Amino acid sequence: MITICSLLLALSAVGRTPPFAQVGVTPPTRTQPGLRALAKRHHLNIGSAMPVASLRNDIDSGQYSAAAIYTFNMLEPENDFKPPAVWTGPREYRFTEGDFLLGEPGKTGWAQAHGFKVRGHVLVYAQDFGYTLPQWLRKSESSLSKEDASALLHDYIFALAGRYRGKVAMWDVANEAIDDRPNQNPYNLRNSFWFRKLGPEFLVLAFKWAHEADPRAELYYNEYGIEGGGQKAQHLLDLVKWLKEQGAPIKGVGLQYHIDCHTSISPGDGHYKLIDDLQRLRLAYMITELDVAVRLRLPSANTNRDQLPNDPNDIDAQARVYASVFQMALSSRNCHGVQIWGLNDRYSWIPGVSQGRNGLATILDRDYKPKPAYAAIEDLLRK
Ligand code: G3I
Repeated sequence: MITICSLLLALSAVGRTPPFAQVGVTPPTRTQPGLRALAKRHHLNIGSAMPVASLRNDIDSGQYSAAAIYTFNMLEPENDFKPPAVWTGPREYRFTEGDFLLGEPGKTGWAQAHGFKVRGHVLVYAQDFGYTLPQWLRKSESSLSKEDASALLHDYIFALAGRYRGKVAMWDVANEAIDDRPNQNPYNLRNSFWFRKLGPEFLVLAFKWAHEADPRAELYYNEYGIEGGGQKAQHLLDLVKWLKEQGAPIKGVGLQYHIDCHTSISPGDGHYKLIDDLQRLRLAYMITELDVAVRLRLPSANTNRDQLPNDPNDIDAQARVYASVFQMALSSRNCHGVQIWGLNDRYSWIPGVSQGRNGLATILDRDYKPKPAYAAIEDLLRK
């Protein structure tokens, strides 16, 4: 009788990366090291964004948790530590998901039990639209003085970062504060609620308060659209230089890396120049939200259906791009980790944000089977 496990053993015997399992069956015992085990040899933090509920509910018959534990050693709650999820009122907070993941004060949670470092995302989401600022705060802007806003932010950061003190390896203290369109603000900062209330100093205060609340956490400024250099990247470099001059305890910069399968990354190009510029500022970097989008043949945002690439060659192109990102990370002294934005293709945000035009952006397919991108990273980590 051929069982799932004997099939997996046979697959691994011929050097094939066994699938994690078919969806709906108990995760098999793994027969060869996953990326988590291979990353250990390189002291590389390799992670993924994950909704805490997906872990708590052990979705897909345990496949989600099994694939997470086999593949990653770091995780970032995708939305559970964002202000709208936690900050329910002026000094009211909701810690249900954080306590499951990290344990209430004096206890531990799922993350410690399964050997995960946790990245916190994000204390100040410096945009006003979408799932970034609590509605109650947005609505009270006109009635809040600068002092009120400062006190609220201070208390929020101490409430959240203080509650998980010593349990969070890195915090995105601030996210996406730089505008994509030119403006007259210092460092081209967005005209966000926090900028309007506190000026650019909101960033310095947030970093200082986060450090006081959790002195051991590495503190990052996180941004997109800067990875290959350019004007926004220059604003970023000017901003983080100023933050350091103001005494902000910033450890590094999160480079989101929402890219596509035609992105070129090679030594000496703008990507490598940016991380060299950060090194010169004595700053670390993390690749924080890596996904490599592929154009779909039939637009579909429904990730529960098979999504096919418009060009089958794009899946191998995607593998080369993933390998180029990990190659850059492994070759640079100031990289503190690489994180993928979504555990597998089924739970990626790309189909939704692209109205179904793009997808297949992660390294595991929707049934948790490793893709060529996974194998390309595996090959690198085996060296
Ligand atoms: O939780 C609410 C729920 O109560 C409500 O009923 C529902 C309908 O409005 O919305 C739910 O919130 C959603 C949230 O995800 C949590 O699931 C928001 O609508 C939805 O917009 C939000 O999308 C997230 C997006 O950030 C906006 O915050 C994506 O899942 C997440 O992948 C994406 O991640 C961001 C990073 O944080 C920062 N970098 C860019 C990246 C992609 O946009």
